Amino acid sequence: MTVKKIYALAFCTLLMFCGCKAKEDNSGARPKGPTDTEEPGAPETPTDKPLKEAATYPVGSALTPGLLRNDQQYADIVKREMNSVTAENEMKMVALSSARGTYTFDKADEIVAFAADNGMRVHGHVLVWYREDALPGWVKTFAGDRDAWIAMLEEYIRDVMTHFKGKVASWDVVNEAFNDDGTWRTDCVWYQNIGQDYMDIAFAAARSADPEAILFYNDYGTEYSEAKRNAIAVEIEAMKFRGVPVQGVGLQMHISRHTTKNNLAASLRAAAETGLLVHVSELDVAINDINNPDPNLAYTQTLANEQKAAYKALFEAYKETVPAPQQFGVTFWGVDDNHSWLTNYPDWPLPFDRNYEPKPAYEGIQEALGGI
Ligand code: G3I
Repeated sequence: MTVKKIYALAFCTLLMFCGCKAKEDNSGARPKGPTDTEEPGAPETPTDKPLKEAATYPVGSALTPGLLRNDQQYADIVKREMNSVTAENEMKMVALSSARGTYTFDKADEIVAFAADNGMRVHGHVLVWYREDALPGWVKTFAGDRDAWIAMLEEYIRDVMTHFKGKVASWDVVNEAFNDDGTWRTDCVWYQNIGQDYMDIAFAAARSADPEAILFYNDYGTEYSEAKRNAIAVEIEAMKFRGVPVQGVGLQMHISRHTTKNNLAASLRAAAETGLLVHVSELDVAINDINNPDPNLAYTQTLANEQKAAYKALFEAYKETVPAPQQFGVTFWGVDDNHSWLTNYPDWPLPFDRNYEPKPAYEGIQEALGGI
């Protein structure tokens, strides 16, 4: 054997050793099996890359300030994986304003400060929403004619956006204006007291409050309702025609393990065809049936793999359907299974489990992102 061959052999052996070592090291980050670490099929994490690096667009989570403050593991996972944040509740009207002209920004500011400290984008959620539990009492009892309602809405948007100017990059200006059948939602104080053009008025107020902020219309259900996605697309086109400064469509994507890639793509395509930015703004994948939940459901490997497939389909469809310049990002509605709005029955909707370990869902996302 020549000296050259001996060196080559030694080099190959070294490479093989390093390869095995790298594989061993990776196994330290294996997602745990659903209920039992002995369960078959617990996959290996395919990459060490955090989501924010594996993706070519921002990846975010909806956050809760109390957890950021008191739960180091929660904060660490956000720092490691995310480069965009949304306040799950702290920028809603009920959280910000207890009386007309009176504001409490402390908790929202905590999220903004966390994002600034860690170089993350902040997406604002939400300026105008009909939901009773997101409206302060003073709005529900507000007495005044149409002009008074418009003035109150414009004042609120101006005050809030001025406070966050330069810190919050984008806003859900209006959330959930449509019913699933594509008609305007009328169980909405803004619709009832101002009329359909509360939408135009809100966007115009937002634009004049912060000329730099990127302004979104946000809604859910466009993956299962063709009527709803068509109605939103028609309204966005009409708004553009009227010169209303809408710049993006937010698709909440509270989906289930049964949601098909075709439906996801149809929703994303309708939004992309507006030519505006497209934000998957509140992503989670329910395992239980949200309409008929099983109170005794257990988390099995089969269910975990179905959820993985749905997460993977969403990220693939986003890449395949939304042109890169329109990809505003993907935001999860939470971080881990222990802290989710889906709390009334058993569910495991997020990519990290209760111990902050990545789940099969996380691996599906990585596979779709090509981060392997
Ligand atoms: O913080 C109070 C707590 O002090 C009190 O003891 C407790 C008793 O009910 O309520 C707590 O507030 C709740 C809050 O979540 C924090 O947990 C509110 O009642 C409850 O209404 C609120 O629900 C939020 C819901 O929006 C309504 O604002 C969910 O957390 C939040 O995940 C959900 O998010 C929405 C998006 O904004 C829009 N798209 C749909 C999505 C899911 O519904």
